Amino acid sequence: MSDSPLLTRRPEWTALEDHRAEGTPHLRELFAKDPGRAERYVVRVGDLRIDYSKHLITDETLALLQELAAATDVFGLRDAMFRGERINLTEDRAVLHTALRAPANAVVEVDGENVVPRVHAVLDKMSDFANRVRSGEWTGHTGKRIKNVVNIGIGGSDLGPAMAYEALRAFTARELTFRFVSNVDGADLHEATRDLDPAETLFIVASKTFTTIETITNATSARSWLLDGPGGLHDDKAVAKHFVALSTNAEKVTDFGIDPDNMFEFWDWVGGRYSYDSAIGLSLMIAIGPDRFREMLDGFRIVDEHFRNAPAEANAPLLLGLLGIWYGNFHDAQSHAVLPYSHYLSKFTAYLQQLDMESNGKSVQRDGRPVEWQTGPVVWGTPGTNGQHAYYQLIHQGTKLIPADFIGFARPVDELSDELKAQHDLLMANLFAQGQALAFGKTAEEVRAEGVPEEQVAHRTFQGNHPTTTILAKELTPSVLGQLIALYEHKVFVQGAVWNIDSFDQWGVELGKVLAKRVEPALTEGADVPGLDSSTTALVAAYRELKEV
Ligand code: F6P
Repeated sequence: MSDSPLLTRRPEWTALEDHRAEGTPHLRELFAKDPGRAERYVVRVGDLRIDYSKHLITDETLALLQELAAATDVFGLRDAMFRGERINLTEDRAVLHTALRAPANAVVEVDGENVVPRVHAVLDKMSDFANRVRSGEWTGHTGKRIKNVVNIGIGGSDLGPAMAYEALRAFTARELTFRFVSNVDGADLHEATRDLDPAETLFIVASKTFTTIETITNATSARSWLLDGPGGLHDDKAVAKHFVALSTNAEKVTDFGIDPDNMFEFWDWVGGRYSYDSAIGLSLMIAIGPDRFREMLDGFRIVDEHFRNAPAEANAPLLLGLLGIWYGNFHDAQSHAVLPYSHYLSKFTAYLQQLDMESNGKSVQRDGRPVEWQTGPVVWGTPGTNGQHAYYQLIHQGTKLIPADFIGFARPVDELSDELKAQHDLLMANLFAQGQALAFGKTAEEVRAEGVPEEQVAHRTFQGNHPTTTILAKELTPSVLGQLIALYEHKVFVQGAVWNIDSFDQWGVELGKVLAKRVEPALTEGADVPGLDSSTTALVAAYRELKEV
């Protein structure tokens, strides 16, 4: 590995640098010369129509980017991932979230064992449990029907199910209440439980490791609330009917007091941020039902197969990954905005933040040498049209290049009234208008022609040339959600492969965890913590003083 040339010294890289130095014509010119790019620069996968025509690229740019992907053997690493090789080097693990959505007759081996039957056995166990909760057959300790489901988890054990529950709300059992508690701030659990009846509440403790302090602390407090809070059940046996666990760690689950029969298993080859289509999705499955959950898995699989089989020039995750590299490494873009024009995707970008930034926020290569190039971008964004009245100003007229993804749907959900459905065209008109305004802008001549006074012309001019991708689908269904998530999973994979980083570990979260544990006694007991720096010591002292006043 260390014999491979540094990325930036590869001829394919310097060819891209030279190409960038030559300059790309403005999108206005590119479209004027070649209107056909609107049809040519579109890739279809499953139900997704992905338009990348509004990018600062030509056929030559694409060819050069493809050469970089070939030189860095992106598809070689992809195949190693699908084969179950241990490509998560620092944790010495296979990376097989794709096995979670493999059909029952597929064979995916880890250390010589086909893991697909185990995946389907857990899916069946989840389905059985979800059906029992949904039908009322699974009752609480007092015999009352479960009406509330509270998922306790953090990171991948929260963001996935919470995001997908929001996304698929229109498909959920509306008679049930779902809440997601992640923050160790006690206010999170308080607000999630304050209006619930313990006798009707099921807690799902979701933690791959079952050692994450936030989750274990919240789960412990939830157990106290169940037993001793207002309306508490005052019987330890109640825990068996009101707590289930989703984890890879049966021992810790048992130590916590949850019956191992009530544990839904997954495996160390499922990364936390790739886990919501594993047992971690149990709350979602209860919400939408097993059939819809399986439709979502089918959606993931459509994109898995596309990523695995589509030729490079029509491979959507590859193209999106390479476009990100074009901006991050050759245009100095620091961030990437994801802007869904769907209220239901309100947590989509937050989910992608973990997927992308925990995966590719790295500064050493796979063999430990430092990288000498930019890696993962800052990912951000909120649903349109809200962002338009907040930060779009900066995207349009600020000094930073911010590539953006627009995501929209042709049809609103069925459940809306006719009047609310009619608003959908206005929503989508905004999406299309933003893409147009960002790409083509408004020239000073156009502004002058509107009679704008000369001193205001510069202020009202839009340079344009801001790149966007537009992802369009007929409607937001479970399958389409699976397709979207798999698209981004594989896009992130592509970028990590080109940058030669390990996209599957997350050592960067460890130091803060260790220090928090060390500092806590200073806050609670005023203990002397050896090795605390003077700034933190002063902050702790101020905190303790304020706490007492
Ligand atoms: O933040 C680090 C991390 O390990 C994430 O990767 C993971 O999703 C999250 O913590 C939660 O971990 P667990 O599921 O083990 O509680």
